[in-house]
Amino acid sequence: MARVLIVGIATLDIINTVDDYPEEDAKVRASAQAIRRGGNACNTAVVLQQLGHQCSWAGTLADDASSVIIRDDLTGYGVNMDAVQVVASGHSPTSYITLNQRTGSRTIVHYRDLPEYSLTAFQQIDLTGFDWLHFEGRNVTQTRAMLDIAQQQIPAVPRSVEIEKPREAIESLYEGTKLLLYSRNYAHNSAQPHGITDNEMNDPVAFLQTQQQTIPTAEHICSWAERGAWGVGQQGRVLHSPAIDLPRVVDTLGAGDTFNAAIIHAKLAGLPLADCLRDACQLAGQKCTQRGFQKLC
Ligand code: ADP
Ligand code: FRU
Repeated sequence: MARVLIVGIATLDIINTVDDYPEEDAKVRASAQAIRRGGNACNTAVVLQQLGHQCSWAGTLADDASSVIIRDDLTGYGVNMDAVQVVASGHSPTSYITLNQRTGSRTIVHYRDLPEYSLTAFQQIDLTGFDWLHFEGRNVTQTRAMLDIAQQQIPAVPRSVEIEKPREAIESLYEGTKLLLYSRNYAHNSAQPHGITDNEMNDPVAFLQTQQQTIPTAEHICSWAERGAWGVGQQGRVLHSPAIDLPRVVDTLGAGDTFNAAIIHAKLAGLPLADCLRDACQLAGQKCTQRGFQKLC
């Protein structure tokens, strides 16, 4: 069992299941609706809890009815909430999700007005005793300062950062990070400015080679939905693990967050990169066969 600090957001997810993805301006009926706690950091935390670790979540909660759903769900999984910052202004961030039953794809419209987790709140956390720190790559200036504090106080403890979306100065989070976890969306968007051609934009190998040359001290991993995942370590050889073959994809919401949890779990166990990729594709694939995260492992 490891102690893991996870910094990022929680959301309320309102999930409408539809038989097929609607046309713009259509009026369709959902076959099911679910309201669940979501958010990348928190999704990763509840999977890590199930993998036997003790997670502490550092993020903001609004003072509204939806935050009760969020809090109850996280405490139900045993996530430690001591570092949570309750903010008087704003509402629980909400994602309106259309889940296509035919393909398992999830289309997310996200709205938030809640302030991000503050540096002041992070400074109150006693970092001693944590074995791993994981950050969502958002709130860039403050997150950079949090990474620097961790480097000063607990330099030997590995830090991972999820790089999901291109955001201003997000590259400033790379430095000093042991593990960078990219989305396919980020790889697509960052390919062009690096002078990578259109053809190579669909090529995670070219993307990861560029990243590895930029930060050779880190491991770089990129998940790519049904094509599995790629990773590269300090020796510079890009490795691939295929996704598992699924008879039916039910729900891909949070597959990437599950993947990240499984990677952190495998790294904590000291597994080599190839095994980390294999195990993470296995667990993330399994997540796609069920709704939500309950009883995933
Ligand atoms: P995100 O949820 O962040 O968009 P991905 O779509 O890259 O993340 O999915 C993360 C991982 O989940 C993939 O690397 C793969 O192992 C697994 N996965 C996602 N979609 C499928 C699928 N259709 N079939 C099998 N595995 C999948
Ligand atoms: C899935 C997810 C959802 C949430 C959204 C936030 O990865 O974390 O649970 O609504 O993404 O971006």
